[in-house]
Amino acid sequence: MTKPIKRIAICTGGGDAPGLNAVIRATVSAAANRGWDCLGIRDGYNGILEPGQYPTGGVALLTREQVRGISHLGGTILGTTNKGDPLHFPTPMPDGSIGESDRSDEILSYFQREGIDALVAVGGDGSLTIANALHRKGLRVVGVPKTIDNDLDKTFTTFGFDTAVSFATDCVDRLHSTAQSHQRVIVIEVMGRYAGWIALHTGIAGGAHAILLPEIPFDLDKVADKVRQRDAEGRLYTLVVVAEGAKPHHGQRAVLAPAEIGHAERLGGIGYHVAQDLAQRTGKDTRVVVLGHLLRGGSPTSFDRLAALRFGSAAVRALDEGRSGVMVALGYPDINYVNLEEVAGRMKAVPLKCDTLQTGRDLGVCFGD
Ligand code: F6P
Repeated sequence: MTKPIKRIAICTGGGDAPGLNAVIRATVSAAANRGWDCLGIRDGYNGILEPGQYPTGGVALLTREQVRGISHLGGTILGTTNKGDPLHFPTPMPDGSIGESDRSDEILSYFQREGIDALVAVGGDGSLTIANALHRKGLRVVGVPKTIDNDLDKTFTTFGFDTAVSFATDCVDRLHSTAQSHQRVIVIEVMGRYAGWIALHTGIAGGAHAILLPEIPFDLDKVADKVRQRDAEGRLYTLVVVAEGAKPHHGQRAVLAPAEIGHAERLGGIGYHVAQDLAQRTGKDTRVVVLGHLLRGGSPTSFDRLAALRFGSAAVRALDEGRSGVMVALGYPDINYVNLEEVAGRMKAVPLKCDTLQTGRDLGVCFGD
């Protein structure tokens, strides 16, 4: 028999995504409905591991009043970090260098000491891997999938993705007229890490003429041919959407900063290479727009808001039903639960045979292959 729950905690980790506040609101509200307290941990697990950073406390009770009216707000009221992995926590070494240490036991001790019965861990693949490790060490944990990149497996989608694609599509819509007026090639770089979901969905919805994805190493000769073909047909401008993780056939990914202890490598800059190369090959005037972190900001769309609210409520229901070590996942018609084990450390790439990609090919989009 598992101990009845009286107090839970929630944390948000990794890059922020529109919808995090809606998850927090639903979790706090569903917990309060059951007579449970819900505590918020600041900046991933840093509120527990680095309490000195928080003069007003790294962990605090979240009341219904505090989460009222936040569902439509971007960001996260708890703060987040992608530099505080408790399993590989950046730690100063005796020789002055920065090493790493596993501080996950401190989280378990904290929960025990403070009488916190369970954790709702909201995050992407990194955060869900941490959640799984905590579950294996004996903590009651339910994971909530979050990422604008849509690269998490076993869930139809995650909140944040629709908001990112909607905004990026609006940007592509706006770029059609200026590219056309100046007869230019405009390259639009979007986030997405090693998966091309944002680029694919944005490019198709926005009517881009070429889309470059990490899943399809590209040949710029093919893209230049597309530009020339459009010119020959009198359509004197071309829009190219490129995923930050896309790479040329015989080349490398564009990396802004290499991986460090506690932090993955930062991708970015491929748009500039593509634009420069296309300018040289076609002789056309070329511009680059990097949408970057704009895709992470703003209000969640109604789709993302609803998904996030459903996730928060389902996470509390899962705990109430005695579940642990599961992630809430978007299925149809209802939310379902999958074992964290099945998602931790896995990435969902765009399948080359998916119908959205085939749709692009039928529309005449060039994928650089
Ligand atoms: O995972 C979300 C994401 O926005 C990626 O698309 C991007 O590569 C990364 O986070 C950027 O993270 P940072 O916040 O470190 O710039």
